[in-house]
Amino acid sequence: MSEPDWEGHISSQINSHMNSRLGKELLYLSRADVAAAGLGMAEIIAALEGMFREKGEGRVEMPPKIGIHTMPDAFIHAMPASIPVRKAAGMKWVGGYPENSMRGLPYVTGLLILNDPETGIPVALMDCTWITAQRTGAATAVAAKYLARSESDAVGILGCGVQGRSNLEALKVLFPLKKAYAYDKHADRALRYAEEMSGQTGIDVVPVSDPKQAVVASDMVVTAGPILRTPHATIQPGWLREGAFASLVDFDSYWHPAALHEADKFCTDDVPQLHHYRDLGYFQNIPAIHADLGELVTGRKAGRETPEERTITCNLGLALDDIAVAPLIYERALEKGIGTWLPL
Ligand SMILES: NC(=O)c1ccc[n+]([C@@H]2O[C@H](COP(=O)([O-])OP(=O)(O)OC[C@H]3O[C@@H](n4cnc5c(N)ncnc54)[C@H](O)[C@@H]3O)[C@@H](O)[C@H]2O)c1
Repeated sequence: MSEPDWEGHISSQINSHMNSRLGKELLYLSRADVAAAGLGMAEIIAALEGMFREKGEGRVEMPPKIGIHTMPDAFIHAMPASIPVRKAAGMKWVGGYPENSMRGLPYVTGLLILNDPETGIPVALMDCTWITAQRTGAATAVAAKYLARSESDAVGILGCGVQGRSNLEALKVLFPLKKAYAYDKHADRALRYAEEMSGQTGIDVVPVSDPKQAVVASDMVVTAGPILRTPHATIQPGWLREGAFASLVDFDSYWHPAALHEADKFCTDDVPQLHHYRDLGYFQNIPAIHADLGELVTGRKAGRETPEERTITCNLGLALDDIAVAPLIYERALEKGIGTWLPL
């Protein structure tokens, strides 16, 4: 898969169009507009890989997330980032509320502001639900490219919600997936997921009633239930098989510390951010960090070296992920004439 052409990507026609509106209007993209822009998962994975290369080279800016916490185990985070080579700058303001599903509302919601890097002026405002789902799946895929066995064909998904869907979609882009085992605390959600994702991906997705079944038979495991400060620690030592890779979308919540310590390589997307969370009370018993994804992508640290290694990534979700993808959505929306212009 080729990485995006970072320079000169925006056509001169769009550029002059943008310049005439700069400082006067911004483009508002609703949730439906963002999806309609039609950015494909392969493009998002490539954009993230390019971003992680920039991050590995130390050419990006991203302070650790700050946030407010209005309910237990919930957050609203401010996530600014800049990727100079991409001329990408902006901030996501995103909430994660575990109880929302009981009200029929999404767990993750929020807005993303894209700024012109030369003047700081906002050029676009977009819903960030879709982007959060897709970029998180894509970050798992980038990690898996370096840490999983390339012939991996069986995946276990624990937590059959938005992330369960986008992570499977992303892994399908890079791996020859044949089988997926889907577990959810709510059996009906695993059933619905299996039906839906089998149809959408052509993978044989099987609902399972025991989380162990989703782990022991899989080459790759994605845990995507709620993030908890104190892990429920369901996954036990001995479950993740030799040669397998796991992506901890819900942090260490799903894993018994002894199971995590079986990993030969434990990686993350950003070490300072992980330390920041540790200071807040998360990640009290995890293995030493082998590498961040920037180090893996640039080759500064080794990815998988043997077929037997157990590898794990715990991607926290970075502002850089969002700011790598948002300009592509903006450009695609401009090309397609999608969105609503609002006065500044
Ligand atoms: N690391 C990141 O970058 C990142 C980004 C976005 C979301 N997240 C996290 O991913 C998780 C999933 O988010 P989502 O948007 O898919 O939420 P969602 O509500 O769409 O899906 C969560 C699913 O997990 C199920 N579930 C709850 N407890 C479970 C358990 N113990 N075992 C199995 N399934 C369980 C729920 O029934 C639901 O189907 C959240 O914790 C969210 O904070 C992480």
